[in-house]
Amino acid sequence: MTEPVRVQVDLAERAYPIVVGTGWLDRLLDHVTLPEGVARVLLVTQQAVAESGHLEPVTAALEAADVEVHRYDVPDGEAAKSAGLLRELWEACAEVPLSRRDLVVALGGGVVGDLAGFAAATWNRGVGVLQIPTTLLAQVDAAVGGKTGINLPQGKNLVGAFHQPVAVACDVATLATLPHRIRVEGLGEVVKYGLIADPGLLDLLEGHADEVLAGDAALLQQIVYRSVAVKARVVAGDEREGGERAYLNLGHTYGHAVESLTGYDEVLHGEAVAIGTVVALRLGVRLGRTPPELADRGEALLERLGLPTRGPALDRDEVWATMGRDKKADADGVRFVVMDGPAQPAVVVPERADVDAVLDDLAALAAPARGVEDAGPGH
Ligand SMILES: NC(=O)c1ccc[n+]([C@@H]2O[C@H](COP(=O)([O-])OP(=O)(O)OC[C@H]3O[C@@H](n4cnc5c(N)ncnc54)[C@H](O)[C@@H]3O)[C@@H](O)[C@H]2O)c1
Ligand SMILES: [Zn+2]
Repeated sequence: MTEPVRVQVDLAERAYPIVVGTGWLDRLLDHVTLPEGVARVLLVTQQAVAESGHLEPVTAALEAADVEVHRYDVPDGEAAKSAGLLRELWEACAEVPLSRRDLVVALGGGVVGDLAGFAAATWNRGVGVLQIPTTLLAQVDAAVGGKTGINLPQGKNLVGAFHQPVAVACDVATLATLPHRIRVEGLGEVVKYGLIADPGLLDLLEGHADEVLAGDAALLQQIVYRSVAVKARVVAGDEREGGERAYLNLGHTYGHAVESLTGYDEVLHGEAVAIGTVVALRLGVRLGRTPPELADRGEALLERLGLPTRGPALDRDEVWATMGRDKKADADGVRFVVMDGPAQPAVVVPERADVDAVLDDLAALAAPARGVEDAGPGH
């Protein structure tokens, strides 16, 4: 058994480690130091995660250190990131009762991480949260960086806080029990990291696509490690998204519009990011910034990994209205991340005509064999 590896997120007094390993949750506290004085934890999870066998080793490791574990299950899906559930979590904290020195543990995908993280950010004006992400998307993205929050009927992630965790514990062995489509979805974000910062990650995915898709743990550990290394570096340089952190939004401008206009259940987040990444790559080519071979490489890799590269047909005016309402849009217009070369992202505010031309081209092209509908079994 190889030892877990760690990446430090360098944020002065809020610095924390991300630990990445395979099959190590039963030894959680060998590699993660709990803050001084933790006597109780509220462990927030989901039934599917617990039933897949990932709760037991975590609970056992905490109890072996004399920490009292109080479990709280939240329902599945985006609907769990609601004000109603947040209130239930606050009340669960009150019942424990969770003191300022105690801890919330988030064991699950991005839904659990965002909701439990926000509960931790607000309970008692803020208690620590230990993130133990169990989906690929959450390991490489959601659990790292400190963004937490809930949805409103008016939109996703509209209420939230920056609340950095005390540590992030990624066990790629947990990914073995994920439905195939959810594991593949996370690769959309991994390709993004490869494009914006780590061409070697693209090489790795291209050279070993089949093994990655089959869930090879050693490869997944490398992929998660390299992805969080990129995110950690970017977050440390720009904690609150003033500058460099914007590059993490490659593929997200159009991707968010796809998710929003299809109601968040038809196209998964990572799938929408893949679709948006193709738009961004082609936009960069059209603007004379992205080398065409880089755009082709990115698109071919996404396809190879079984991710959708063409979005559903959408009303163009609605797309623009949605992109304009995005939190990241500003008075100048809609921002896109484009690639000036490998590992050279840039933010641009393109003319609508250029984006529309790219979308027209994509709509005119025959959809490749693996579309959204047949990307694998649903969840
Ligand atoms: N905070 C951030 O920076 C950030 C970044 C990206 C995404 N997000 C958020 O993350 C959420 C999506 O997260 P997600 O893709 O992880 O989805 P998810 O949390 O809904 O998990 C997907 C499904 O997989 C199940 N599951 C999780 N781990 C499992 C395992 N190991 N074995 C079997 N089943 C398992 C869950 O119960 C759920 O049904 C969205 O709400 C999104 O807004 C947040
Ligand atoms: Zn994303």
